[in-house]
Amino acid sequence: MTTVLLRQVRPYGEGEPVDVLVSGGVISRIGEIEPPSGAEVIEGAGQVLLPGFVDLHTHLREPGREDTETIETGSAAAALGGYTAVFAMANTDPVADNAVVTDHVWRRGREVGLVDVHPVGAVTVGLAGERLAEMGTMANSVAGVRMFSDDGHCVADPLLMRRALEYSTALGVVVAQHAEEPRLTVGAQAHEGERAARLGYAGWPASAEESIVARDCVLARHARARLHVCHVSAAGTVDVLRWAKDQGTEVSAEVTPHHLLLTDERLATFDPVNKVNPPLRAEADVLRMRQALADGVIDCVATDHAPHAPQEKDTEWAAARPGMLGLQTALSVVAETMVRPGLLDWRGVARVMSERPAEIVGLPDQGRPLAVGEPANLVLIDADAEWTVRGAGLASRAANTPYEGLRLPAVVTATLLRGRVTSREGKIV
Ligand code: DOR
Repeated sequence: MTTVLLRQVRPYGEGEPVDVLVSGGVISRIGEIEPPSGAEVIEGAGQVLLPGFVDLHTHLREPGREDTETIETGSAAAALGGYTAVFAMANTDPVADNAVVTDHVWRRGREVGLVDVHPVGAVTVGLAGERLAEMGTMANSVAGVRMFSDDGHCVADPLLMRRALEYSTALGVVVAQHAEEPRLTVGAQAHEGERAARLGYAGWPASAEESIVARDCVLARHARARLHVCHVSAAGTVDVLRWAKDQGTEVSAEVTPHHLLLTDERLATFDPVNKVNPPLRAEADVLRMRQALADGVIDCVATDHAPHAPQEKDTEWAAARPGMLGLQTALSVVAETMVRPGLLDWRGVARVMSERPAEIVGLPDQGRPLAVGEPANLVLIDADAEWTVRGAGLASRAANTPYEGLRLPAVVTATLLRGRVTSREGKIV
């Protein structure tokens, strides 16, 4: 087991710098510490130390679309982005709707060893929305699947969703819904509003999201289930979530970095790198996302990291696939949209990027306090540094970042997984 001394770091970005010694996979001492012989020393110079990030929503594309991302390249992007655990969505080919696929994803993640890769199991067979997948078998398999989602598709049938929630209660797992009433989004290409109308794009109405979230909150309350809402994008959804939480419904929600920063103003570029599902929305929605994340109605940030091949993006808008990269830029977008304007401090960033996501899925060793004896899943951040995003320089196999050329604050300088350095100074270790 390696020993690492993080010198002069500021846990949660608070107080005077301290030394943090990591050995045996845990934080073994905090204080003023002489480097033990053989220890790897990382000079923190006052940088911010947080628990490693947990992403509840990642598309790693393996199996099936290894031309766009693999568990190896996606894990590298995650480690470079400060993540120590990611949840790999089920819309692979074959679909992760059975324990053979989910166990493969889990094992491959362990082999790569850069980040804990937790497979998400599909709710329905083939994501077809017709028959429930074998949730119990997946939950009880080697991978111990904790989250189920048809993400990319909504579980639209209310009876199926009700059954899935009932099973999830019995199994102690979470159902994560891609909230999109498909009857309201037929042909939709962009946020329903003036900009889409001017360009002649069919609109994706906010009500398509709000109505499914409202329905599912009711179903979850009756099933005593834990519902998680993927990628909230519409301001009205925040009102629904607040109402459901006030009633005691066990619902949690995530927002993506892109829905915290970008608006449908990007439609004017005609560049499908900006096409995503749910779509980039209006300024008022973006401001509401930020506020809801700050006050906890939205629990956490999740990337919806969605790599796509050039031919799927460099095409006309209507034909392009929705989705954008997110793992290596998430922290910086959160720093830009939440920390810079004073909506979150670094302790707040730990809450929305580490602690809450780990709690939602019940990971015992992630999102833990920075204290002696706790697992050393850590990220070190130079909060004062800035960098310029270049898609070609990201670790992902794909390059579809909407932030190309953008200058953003906060740089991950090191990530540790169970005490082992996985990334340092922008390089995989
Ligand atoms: O934009 C998206 N892309 N949204 C989704 O829900 C799925 C994802 C993908 O798999 O590409």
